[in-house]
Amino acid sequence: MSKPRILVTRRWPAAVETVLSERFDTTLNKDDTALDAAQLREALHIYDAVLPTVSDKLPAALFEGQTIRTKILGNFGVGFNHIDIAAAREKGVVVTNTPGVLTDCTADLAMLLLLSAARRSGEGERELRAGAWSGWRPTHLVGTKVTGKTVGIIGFGRIGRAFAQRCHFGFGMDVVFHNRSAIDPMEAARYGAVQLQRIEDVLEISDFVSLHCPGGAGNRHLMNAARFAAMKPGAFLINTARGDVVDEAALISALEQGKIRGAGLDVYEAEPNIPERLRAMDNVVLLPHLGSATEETRTAMGMKVADNVIAFFAGQAPPDRVA
Ligand code: DGY
Repeated sequence: MSKPRILVTRRWPAAVETVLSERFDTTLNKDDTALDAAQLREALHIYDAVLPTVSDKLPAALFEGQTIRTKILGNFGVGFNHIDIAAAREKGVVVTNTPGVLTDCTADLAMLLLLSAARRSGEGERELRAGAWSGWRPTHLVGTKVTGKTVGIIGFGRIGRAFAQRCHFGFGMDVVFHNRSAIDPMEAARYGAVQLQRIEDVLEISDFVSLHCPGGAGNRHLMNAARFAAMKPGAFLINTARGDVVDEAALISALEQGKIRGAGLDVYEAEPNIPERLRAMDNVVLLPHLGSATEETRTAMGMKVADNVIAFFAGQAPPDRVA
Protein backbone atom coordinates (compact mmCIF):
# COMPACT_ATOMS: atom_id res chain seq x y z
CA MET A 1 0.00 0.00 0.00
CA SER A 2 1.38 3.44 -0.86
CA LYS A 3 2.21 5.81 1.94
CA PRO A 4 0.03 8.93 2.45
CA ARG A 5 1.43 12.02 0.70
CA ILE A 6 2.05 14.81 3.15
CA LEU A 7 3.27 18.39 2.81
CA VAL A 8 5.18 20.21 5.56
CA THR A 9 4.71 23.89 4.69
CA ARG A 10 7.79 25.29 6.50
CA ARG A 11 11.14 24.03 7.80
CA TRP A 12 10.58 22.03 11.01
CA PRO A 13 13.01 20.77 13.67
CA ALA A 14 15.23 18.10 12.05
CA ALA A 15 14.15 15.28 14.39
CA VAL A 16 10.51 15.79 13.40
CA GLU A 17 11.26 16.01 9.68
CA THR A 18 13.09 12.68 10.02
CA VAL A 19 10.12 10.98 11.72
CA LEU A 20 7.69 12.31 9.10
CA SER A 21 9.96 11.31 6.19
CA GLU A 22 10.27 7.76 7.55
CA ARG A 23 6.53 7.31 8.02
CA PHE A 24 5.07 9.11 5.01
CA ASP A 25 5.72 10.17 1.43
CA THR A 26 6.78 13.56 2.75
CA THR A 27 7.48 16.79 0.89
CA LEU A 28 9.61 19.15 2.98
CA ASN A 29 10.04 22.87 2.40
CA LYS A 30 13.85 22.89 2.31
CA ASP A 31 14.28 26.62 1.66
CA ASP A 32 11.55 27.58 4.19
CA THR A 33 9.77 30.03 1.87
CA ALA A 34 6.15 30.75 2.88
CA LEU A 35 3.61 29.30 0.42
CA ASP A 36 1.20 31.71 -1.24
CA ALA A 37 -2.57 31.21 -1.48
CA ALA A 38 -2.37 29.49 -4.88
CA GLN A 39 0.25 27.02 -3.62
CA LEU A 40 -1.78 26.23 -0.50
CA ARG A 41 -4.90 25.76 -2.59
CA GLU A 42 -3.03 23.38 -4.87
CA ALA A 43 -1.65 21.52 -1.84
CA LEU A 44 -5.19 20.76 -0.66
CA HIS A 45 -5.77 19.15 -4.05
CA ILE A 46 -2.66 16.95 -4.20
CA TYR A 47 -1.68 15.95 -0.63
CA ASP A 48 -3.43 13.59 1.80
CA ALA A 49 -2.21 15.71 4.72
CA VAL A 50 -1.03 19.31 4.85
CA LEU A 51 0.90 20.41 7.94
CA PRO A 52 0.55 24.20 8.09
CA THR A 53 1.48 26.76 10.71
CA VAL A 54 0.45 30.26 11.77
CA SER A 55 2.01 31.91 8.68
CA ASP A 56 -0.21 29.85 6.31
CA LYS A 57 -3.59 31.51 5.84
CA LEU A 58 -6.32 28.99 5.00
CA PRO A 59 -9.54 31.00 4.56
CA ALA A 60 -12.82 29.49 3.29
CA ALA A 61 -12.02 30.55 -0.31
CA LEU A 62 -9.15 28.04 -0.46
CA PHE A 63 -11.46 25.13 0.21
CA GLU A 64 -14.17 26.19 -2.24
CA GLY A 65 -14.71 25.07 -5.82
CA GLN A 66 -12.17 22.27 -6.02
CA THR A 67 -11.75 18.62 -5.14
CA ILE A 68 -10.03 18.41 -1.78
CA ARG A 69 -7.71 15.44 -1.44
CA THR A 70 -6.44 16.54 1.98
CA LYS A 71 -8.04 14.64 4.83
CA ILE A 72 -6.16 16.21 7.73
CA LEU A 73 -4.55 19.56 8.50
CA GLY A 74 -2.01 18.89 11.25
CA ASN A 75 -1.40 22.42 12.47
CA PHE A 76 2.00 23.22 14.02
CA GLY A 77 0.81 25.47 16.84
CA VAL A 78 -1.89 25.68 19.45
CA GLY A 79 -3.66 28.67 17.85
CA PHE A 80 -5.59 27.93 14.67
CA ASN A 81 -7.36 31.20 13.80
CA HIS A 82 -5.48 31.18 10.45
CA ILE A 83 -7.63 28.21 9.36
CA ASP A 84 -11.32 28.56 8.51
CA ILE A 85 -12.50 25.70 10.69
CA ALA A 86 -16.10 25.74 9.39
CA ALA A 87 -14.90 25.46 5.77
CA ALA A 88 -12.50 22.63 6.67
CA ARG A 89 -15.25 20.80 8.54
CA GLU A 90 -17.67 21.22 5.64
CA LYS A 91 -15.17 19.52 3.34
CA GLY A 92 -14.68 16.74 5.89
CA VAL A 93 -11.10 17.82 6.68
CA VAL A 94 -9.92 17.00 10.21
CA VAL A 95 -7.87 19.74 11.95
CA THR A 96 -5.49 19.15 14.87
CA ASN A 97 -3.32 21.47 16.98
CA THR A 98 -0.51 21.21 19.57
CA PRO A 99 -1.80 22.15 23.05
CA GLY A 100 0.13 21.77 26.29
CA VAL A 101 3.72 21.61 25.08
CA LEU A 102 4.18 25.36 24.61
CA THR A 103 2.56 26.52 27.86
CA ASP A 104 5.71 27.19 29.88
CA CYS A 105 7.73 28.81 27.12
CA THR A 106 4.90 31.14 26.10
CA ALA A 107 4.30 32.14 29.74
CA ASP A 108 8.06 32.73 30.10
CA LEU A 109 8.01 35.01 27.07
CA ALA A 110 5.04 36.97 28.43
CA MET A 111 7.07 37.49 31.63
CA LEU A 112 10.08 38.57 29.55
CA LEU A 113 7.93 41.16 27.75
CA LEU A 114 6.43 42.42 31.00
CA LEU A 115 9.85 42.84 32.59
CA SER A 116 11.39 44.35 29.45
CA ALA A 117 8.59 46.87 29.01
CA ALA A 118 8.59 47.82 32.70
CA ARG A 119 12.38 48.06 33.03
CA ARG A 120 13.06 49.58 29.60
CA SER A 121 15.61 46.96 28.64
CA GLY A 122 15.10 47.41 24.90
CA GLU A 123 15.81 51.12 25.15
CA GLY A 124 18.89 50.44 27.27
CA GLU A 125 20.29 47.90 24.87
CA ARG A 126 19.69 50.10 21.83
CA GLU A 127 21.42 53.02 23.58
CA LEU A 128 24.42 50.91 24.56
CA ARG A 129 24.84 49.31 21.14
CA ALA A 130 24.64 52.75 19.52
CA GLY A 131 27.63 53.81 21.68
CA ALA A 132 25.40 56.43 23.33
CA TRP A 133 25.69 55.37 27.00
CA SER A 134 27.42 58.14 28.93
CA GLY A 135 27.60 56.22 32.23
CA TRP A 136 25.60 55.55 35.41
CA ARG A 137 23.37 58.28 36.77
CA PRO A 138 20.40 58.26 39.17
CA THR A 139 17.86 59.41 36.61
CA HIS A 140 18.96 57.22 33.72
CA LEU A 141 16.27 55.02 32.03
CA VAL A 142 14.18 54.85 35.16
CA GLY A 143 11.42 52.28 34.71
CA THR A 144 8.50 50.84 36.66
CA LYS A 145 8.81 48.45 39.62
CA VAL A 146 7.25 45.05 38.96
CA THR A 147 7.35 43.29 42.34
CA GLY A 148 4.13 43.70 44.30
CA LYS A 149 2.12 45.25 41.46
CA THR A 150 -1.24 44.00 40.17
CA VAL A 151 -1.37 41.99 36.97
CA GLY A 152 -4.61 41.36 35.08
CA ILE A 153 -4.91 38.31 32.88
CA ILE A 154 -7.47 37.98 30.10
CA GLY A 155 -8.05 34.27 29.43
CA PHE A 156 -7.26 31.77 32.18
CA GLY A 157 -6.41 28.66 30.15
CA ARG A 158 -3.12 26.77 30.42
CA ILE A 159 -0.89 29.69 29.44
CA GLY A 160 -2.84 32.24 31.50
CA ARG A 161 -2.45 30.02 34.56
CA ALA A 162 1.27 29.44 33.99
CA PHE A 163 1.74 33.19 33.62
CA ALA A 164 -0.25 33.85 36.82
CA GLN A 165 1.96 31.38 38.68
CA ARG A 166 5.11 33.18 37.56
CA CYS A 167 3.71 36.61 38.45
CA HIS A 168 2.38 35.64 41.88
CA PHE A 169 4.96 33.20 43.19
CA GLY A 170 7.96 34.66 41.34
CA PHE A 171 7.29 38.39 41.65
CA GLY A 172 4.85 38.72 44.56
CA MET A 173 2.20 40.25 42.31
CA ASP A 174 -1.53 40.35 42.97
CA VAL A 175 -3.21 38.47 40.15
CA VAL A 176 -6.74 39.08 38.89
CA PHE A 177 -8.21 37.60 35.75
CA HIS A 178 -11.18 37.46 33.42
CA ASN A 179 -12.29 34.21 31.87
CA ARG A 180 -15.45 33.51 29.89
CA SER A 181 -16.39 30.54 32.07
CA ALA A 182 -16.23 30.48 35.87
CA ILE A 183 -13.07 28.97 37.37
CA ASP A 184 -13.27 27.18 40.72
CA PRO A 185 -11.83 29.69 43.24
CA MET A 186 -9.73 26.88 44.77
CA GLU A 187 -8.20 26.19 41.36
CA ALA A 188 -7.56 29.91 40.80
CA ALA A 189 -5.94 30.11 44.26
CA ARG A 190 -3.37 27.48 43.21
CA TYR A 191 -2.01 30.19 40.90
CA GLY A 192 -2.49 32.99 43.43
CA ALA A 193 -5.27 34.42 41.28
CA VAL A 194 -8.77 35.83 41.75
CA GLN A 195 -11.45 35.87 39.04
CA LEU A 196 -13.33 39.11 38.31
CA GLN A 197 -16.56 39.23 36.43
CA ARG A 198 -15.99 41.82 33.71
CA ILE A 199 -12.96 42.58 31.58
CA GLU A 200 -13.36 46.21 32.66
CA ASP A 201 -13.05 45.17 36.33
CA VAL A 202 -9.65 43.70 35.50
CA LEU A 203 -8.52 46.65 33.36
CA GLU A 204 -9.45 49.21 36.00
CA ILE A 205 -7.09 47.90 38.69
CA SER A 206 -4.23 46.27 36.79
CA ASP A 207 -0.77 47.79 36.42
CA PHE A 208 -0.06 45.19 33.72
CA VAL A 209 -2.66 43.54 31.48
CA SER A 210 -1.62 40.34 29.73
CA LEU A 211 -3.68 38.66 27.00
CA HIS A 212 -3.96 34.85 26.97
CA CYS A 213 -7.23 34.23 25.12
CA PRO A 214 -7.58 32.63 21.67
CA GLY A 215 -7.64 34.71 18.50
CA GLY A 216 -10.35 34.52 15.84
CA ALA A 217 -13.74 36.14 15.31
CA GLY A 218 -14.97 35.74 18.92
CA ASN A 219 -12.14 37.84 20.40
CA ARG A 220 -11.36 40.14 17.46
CA HIS A 221 -10.46 43.61 18.80
CA LEU A 222 -11.35 42.61 22.36
CA MET A 223 -8.88 45.34 23.30
CA ASN A 224 -10.41 48.35 21.52
CA ALA A 225 -10.38 52.11 22.14
CA ALA A 226 -12.99 51.86 24.92
CA ARG A 227 -11.04 49.12 26.68
CA PHE A 228 -7.78 51.06 26.44
CA ALA A 229 -9.62 54.02 27.97
CA ALA A 230 -10.76 51.71 30.80
CA MET A 231 -7.17 50.70 31.66
CA LYS A 232 -5.52 52.14 34.73
CA PRO A 233 -3.58 55.27 33.63
CA GLY A 234 0.09 54.41 33.14
CA ALA A 235 -0.51 50.65 32.84
CA PHE A 236 1.16 48.31 30.33
CA LEU A 237 -0.33 45.88 27.80
CA ILE A 238 1.35 42.52 27.08
CA ASN A 239 0.22 40.40 24.12
CA THR A 240 1.53 36.91 23.43
CA ALA A 241 -1.90 35.61 22.31
CA ARG A 242 -2.90 36.68 18.81
CA GLY A 243 -2.58 40.00 16.99
CA ASP A 244 -6.26 40.20 16.09
CA VAL A 245 -7.24 40.36 19.78
CA VAL A 246 -5.91 43.95 19.82
CA ASP A 247 -7.13 46.84 17.68
CA GLU A 248 -3.60 47.94 16.78
CA ALA A 249 -4.69 51.44 15.68
CA ALA A 250 -6.41 51.95 19.05
CA LEU A 251 -3.31 50.67 20.87
CA ILE A 252 -1.10 53.10 18.97
CA SER A 253 -3.43 56.01 19.87
CA ALA A 254 -3.51 54.98 23.54
CA LEU A 255 0.31 54.88 23.59
CA GLU A 256 0.74 58.13 21.67
CA GLN A 257 -1.71 59.93 23.95
CA GLY A 258 0.05 58.55 27.03
CA LYS A 259 -3.09 56.76 28.29
CA ILE A 260 -1.00 53.67 28.82
CA ARG A 261 2.71 53.71 29.59
CA GLY A 262 3.97 50.95 27.35
CA ALA A 263 3.44 47.60 25.72
CA GLY A 264 5.21 44.31 25.14
CA LEU A 265 4.08 42.58 21.96
CA ASP A 266 4.93 39.24 20.36
CA VAL A 267 2.00 39.08 17.93
CA TYR A 268 0.50 41.56 15.46
CA GLU A 269 -2.58 42.12 13.34
CA ALA A 270 -0.84 41.76 9.96
CA GLU A 271 2.29 39.72 10.71
CA PRO A 272 5.03 40.19 9.65
CA ASN A 273 4.05 43.79 8.85
CA ILE A 274 4.36 46.09 11.84
CA PRO A 275 3.02 49.66 11.63
CA GLU A 276 5.81 52.22 11.38
CA ARG A 277 4.24 54.28 14.22
CA LEU A 278 4.57 51.28 16.53
CA ARG A 279 8.17 50.61 15.51
CA ALA A 280 9.00 54.25 16.18
CA MET A 281 7.95 54.06 19.84
CA ASP A 282 10.63 53.57 22.47
CA ASN A 283 8.18 52.47 25.16
CA VAL A 284 7.10 49.39 23.21
CA VAL A 285 9.01 46.09 23.24
CA LEU A 286 8.49 44.24 19.96
CA LEU A 287 9.35 40.57 19.40
CA PRO A 288 8.81 38.54 16.20
CA HIS A 289 6.28 35.93 17.43
CA LEU A 290 8.76 33.98 19.57
CA GLY A 291 6.39 32.62 22.27
CA SER A 292 7.11 28.95 21.63
CA ALA A 293 10.59 29.41 20.14
CA THR A 294 12.79 27.09 22.17
CA GLU A 295 14.45 23.97 20.82
CA GLU A 296 12.61 21.75 23.30
CA THR A 297 9.18 23.24 22.64
CA ARG A 298 9.39 23.48 18.85
CA THR A 299 10.49 19.83 18.70
CA ALA A 300 7.67 18.80 21.06
CA MET A 301 5.16 20.72 18.91
CA GLY A 302 6.35 18.94 15.78
CA MET A 303 6.24 15.54 17.47
CA LYS A 304 2.68 16.28 18.55
CA VAL A 305 1.71 16.97 14.94
CA ALA A 306 3.41 13.71 13.91
CA ASP A 307 1.46 11.81 16.63
CA ASN A 308 -1.82 13.27 15.38
CA VAL A 309 -1.17 12.46 11.73
CA ILE A 310 0.17 8.97 12.49
CA ALA A 311 -2.93 8.21 14.59
CA PHE A 312 -5.21 9.55 11.87
CA PHE A 313 -3.74 7.41 9.08
CA ALA A 314 -3.75 4.38 11.42
CA GLY A 315 -7.52 4.80 11.67
CA GLN A 316 -7.39 6.06 15.26
CA ALA A 317 -8.73 9.29 16.76
CA PRO A 318 -6.04 12.02 16.60
CA PRO A 319 -5.41 13.13 20.21
CA ASP A 320 -5.60 16.88 19.52
CA ARG A 321 -8.52 17.17 17.14
CA VAL A 322 -10.14 20.62 17.00
CA ALA A 323 -12.39 19.97 13.98
C1 DGY B 1 0.94 28.88 18.65
O1 DGY B 1 1.21 27.73 18.90
O2 DGY B 1 -0.22 29.25 18.48
C2 DGY B 1 2.07 29.84 18.51
O3 DGY B 1 1.65 31.15 18.57
C3 DGY B 1 2.77 29.58 17.20
O4 DGY B 1 1.84 29.71 16.20
